[in-house]
Amino acid sequence: MELGLKNRTALITGGSSGIGYAIAELFVEEGANVIIASRDYSRVEAAVKTLKRKNPTVKITGKVLDLSNEKNIRKVITEIQKLGSIDILINNVGGPASGATLDITLEGWDKGYYSLLRSVILLAQLTLPGMKKKKWGRILTITSTSAVELIPKLPVSATFRAGLKAYTKGLAKEVGRMGVLVNNLLPGPTATARLEELKKKSPAFFESMAEETALGRIADPKEIARVAVFLCSGANSYVTGTDVLADGGFTKALR
Ligand SMILES: NC(=O)c1ccc[n+]([C@@H]2O[C@H](COP(=O)([O-])OP(=O)(O)OC[C@H]3O[C@@H](n4cnc5c(N)ncnc54)[C@H](OP(=O)(O)O)[C@@H]3O)[C@@H](O)[C@H]2O)c1
Repeated sequence: MELGLKNRTALITGGSSGIGYAIAELFVEEGANVIIASRDYSRVEAAVKTLKRKNPTVKITGKVLDLSNEKNIRKVITEIQKLGSIDILINNVGGPASGATLDITLEGWDKGYYSLLRSVILLAQLTLPGMKKKKWGRILTITSTSAVELIPKLPVSATFRAGLKAYTKGLAKEVGRMGVLVNNLLPGPTATARLEELKKKSPAFFESMAEETALGRIADPKEIARVAVFLCSGANSYVTGTDVLADGGFTKALR
């Protein structure tokens, strides 16, 4: 299947590790130019170096970006757009504060709102004019199965990601006729550094998550990346305004 990603430019926030990095890696393999952006400079630099070795023929750039900081987002997008337009926007960030609903501080809720929801709204406002001009664009937000079925101790994730379902559906309706597809991707338990930490702290809980999937195992980030890259490719021409689960059958809800 031809993915039509050559000469496209993808911005992947939170692209220096985990699911975001796996998506960046696959875009690079498919011949897309990639910009990864996250907070830690050394991690961004290391990821760019590794990606450049994978495909020296595409452009790979790294930016330091904190998605909870509006000024920083505006500055980074202006810098990127001076050099060219963004065809594909992958909204990805680290998981928010966890705990019982009443134990999360207001600051934890604010941070979750800024990084999970507000940043997505702002990035869409900043990147859509370029996509509309080209009459082609893809926006994909990595959320979580918590958007469709509550996971204990993840109320911040569930609240803002459920909000993103509405935002994505509405936006998709408004921009579909301009060639822009907008979706959310909901990974199930995936073997990233964050989950590895959890495994060390609580092997039993880790095993129970694997057990709860239909496949009896945790995902490799590459398995999530393949779905993300398809949704953002030219091969996807009809999936928009929806939540796509890539959870190995983890979710029990009939949505
Ligand atoms: N792994 C799973 O099992 C799983 C399951 C369902 C949903 N998810 C969701 O998928 C997303 C990615 O998860 P992951 O496991 O791949 O996470 P991860 O390995 O912790 O990677 C998170 C990435 O986001 C960056 N980041 C974190 N906060 C940021 C901020 N404020 N601004 C910009 N970049 C930021 C990190 O780099 P810096 O720290 O340097 O900024 C890193 O590159 C999360 O939102 C998570 O909730 C994960």
